[in-house]
Amino acid sequence: MLEQALANAGRAEILELGCGPAGDALNLAAQRNFQVYGLDFSTQALAQAAAGARVLGRSLELVRGDVRRTPFAAEKFDLVFSQGLLEHFPDPDPVWREMQRIIKPGGYAVVDVPQTWNPYTLAKAWHACKGDWPWGWETHYTVADLRRAARGHGFRLLAARGYGYRGGWGDVTDLARRGLQPFFPAGWAYLEKKFGAHWMMNVAVLLQKS
Ligand SMILES: C[S@@+](CC[C@H](N)C(=O)[O-])C[C@H]1O[C@@H](n2cnc3c(N)ncnc32)[C@H](O)[C@@H]1O
Repeated sequence: MLEQALANAGRAEILELGCGPAGDALNLAAQRNFQVYGLDFSTQALAQAAAGARVLGRSLELVRGDVRRTPFAAEKFDLVFSQGLLEHFPDPDPVWREMQRIIKPGGYAVVDVPQTWNPYTLAKAWHACKGDWPWGWETHYTVADLRRAARGHGFRLLAARGYGYRGGWGDVTDLARRGLQPFFPAGWAYLEKKFGAHWMMNVAVLLQKS
């Protein structure tokens, strides 16, 4: 999806919000004429990202800050992306507003979050309801939720893709995959690509700023 957003970009300024060790940002930093930034509020995560950049010999601008109030100028970025971030905010609106502020008109956002209609996500929601989910607040999204949120913040949804299986006996999606994929690999790949955003564990959406 990141590739799709950058398909026609020559030079591009790119930011990963909540980058952690910045695996994706480091991959992008290896490509073409991209100026890549990673922002996180954890010094430990930024130290890991810096070590990765050093080892790989990649240029990555690391910034310590809050994704709801970044230090960047308005309309700076061609692409802003996040993975495993938005679901941790009971109120994600400030993150959406900040993305809207720092992305150029016509620029892109990629948002990657847990997908609602998946057995693992539903089990997680059940445990969160009972108060025994150990990893703190986490929400989940359908494609329709993401389209609505994006529209409300001045973005248009261009594409949605699902990915990921938790595995184990409770995961009927993984059982179906293991039963069918070996016999119908192309058919399974089609199902994932076409409909996976509605049943796989995570969903990533490509958005364009209006
Ligand atoms: C689940 S990790 C994902 C890391 C990375 N995107 C990845 O996929 O490996 C979420 C990251 O978001 C960062 N984070 C959470 N809330 C933040 C905030 N308000 N401002 C900046 N970073 C934040 C955390 O420190 C953590 O590194």
